[in-house]
Amino acid sequence: MDIRIDQLSMVFDKTTAVREMTTTIQDGELVSLLGPSGCGKSTTLMLLSGLYKPTSGTIYFGDKDVTKLDAQKRGIGMVFQNYALYPHLSVLKNIMFPLKMQKVPKKEAEIRAKEMADLVQIGHLLDRKPGQLSGGQQQRVAIARALVKKPNVLLLDEPLSNLDARLRLEMREEIRRIQQEIGITAIFVTHDQEEALSISDRVMLMKDGIIQQESAPQNMYKKPENEFVASFLGNPPINLMTITKSKVADSYRLEDMDQTINLPALPPTELQTVRLGIRAEDLYISEDNPIFHGKIIHIETIGRDTLIRMQVGGITVRALVDPNQQLQIGDIHGLGVHPESIHYFHREHGKRLPLQKRGGMRHAKAHVEEHA
Ligand SMILES: Nc1ncnc2c1ncn2[C@@H]1O[C@H](COP(=O)(O)OP(=O)(O)OP(=O)(O)O)[C@@H](O)[C@H]1O
Ligand SMILES: [Mg+2]
Repeated sequence: MDIRIDQLSMVFDKTTAVREMTTTIQDGELVSLLGPSGCGKSTTLMLLSGLYKPTSGTIYFGDKDVTKLDAQKRGIGMVFQNYALYPHLSVLKNIMFPLKMQKVPKKEAEIRAKEMADLVQIGHLLDRKPGQLSGGQQQRVAIARALVKKPNVLLLDEPLSNLDARLRLEMREEIRRIQQEIGITAIFVTHDQEEALSISDRVMLMKDGIIQQESAPQNMYKKPENEFVASFLGNPPINLMTITKSKVADSYRLEDMDQTINLPALPPTELQTVRLGIRAEDLYISEDNPIFHGKIIHIETIGRDTLIRMQVGGITVRALVDPNQQLQIGDIHGLGVHPESIHYFHREHGKRLPLQKRGGMRHAKAHVEEHA
C-alpha cells in the first residue's frame, strides 16, 4: 500500500511537532524516519497510525483519504520500543490477541498466529510467558502480533532501543528480512543513523518537524543537501569550517587565521564567505598538494583506521588516515582532499552549494604559515 502525506501538520499547544510535511512512500518500501530527539518522528508515526489526528493536512493510504479514519480501521500494525506484550498471556495468546479482538474463529486464529510465529522464528516458544523470553525474543513476539492481522502498513517506533548492541544488529537484519518476505510497506523510526542507513530503502531525516532530506542512504551521506544533514550523518562527525575569500583571486582563507587554503574545487564566486565541509575519511596526509597544514594533537586507533586530530589555525580537524603511516603528536603535516569530496554550504541558510572545478593550470601553490 503506498502512502501519501500532504501538508501534514501537528501542533501541540505551542510546539509544532510536524510542520507541513509532504511526501510519498511507495508500496513495499521500508522508509526510516531519522532525526534528533524531539524532531517529530514519533508524532509522524502516531499521525499515520490514526492514534493522533492532525491539526491540518491529509494522509492517503492508496487512493483513500484516511485522515479522519480511526486507528483500528486503517489496517496498520505497530511495534514499539517497550514491546507492550501482555505479561499474563502465553506467546501464542499474545500473537492471537488482535485476531480475537476481530472475532476471528479460534482455530483459524491459532493457525495464523503459528504461521507468524514461524516467520519470526519463535515457533518453539509458544507456551512461554513474555517474562520468560529474552529482549530479542519479546520483540519478535511483538512483530508477529503486529503482522498477524495482515496489515497494509507496519509502523515501528525505535523497536530495537531496548536491545544490546549485538542483538540490535541481529534484529535489524531480521526486521528487514521479514519486511521483504511479506512485502509490506514499513516505516521505521530511529535516532540511530547507522540503523537507518543500513536497514532502509530510503531515509527521511527530520529536524524541528521538517524533513531535511529524503533519499537513498548512500546518497544522503555522499550528497547532504544542507549543513544539518552533513553534520548529523557520519562518525566521526564531518569537519565544518568557515572560509572567506581573500584578496588574491580564487583564494580563500579559514576564518580567524592567515593561512590561505588551497582548494581543489571552489564555491560559487558570488559568495564572500561559505561553510566548507570535509569528512574525516576524505582527508589524507599530503605534503605535495595540501589544502592546509596542521599540527597533530591527538592520535587514536579505531578498528582498522587511525583517527588523528589536528590543530589548523583556530580549529580542530579530524582525519582518518592510513594506519601504516608513522605519525607523532606535535608533527606538522599537510592534508589533502579530492575535489569531489568537498561540500559547500551557504553560511546563513545552510543549503548545499554547487562546486566549481578549478582550471588545472591555475592550481595555486599553498601559501602556508606555521601555527604553533
Ligand atoms: N502529547 C504531546 N503533547 C505536547 N507536546 C508533545 C506531545 N507529543 C510530542 N510533543 C512534542 O512534540 C515534539 C516532537 O515529539 P516526538 O515525540 O514526535 O519526537 P521524537 O522525534 O519521537 O523524539 P525521540 O527521539 O525523543 O523519541 C517534541 O517537542 C515534543 O515535546
Ligand atoms: Mg519518539
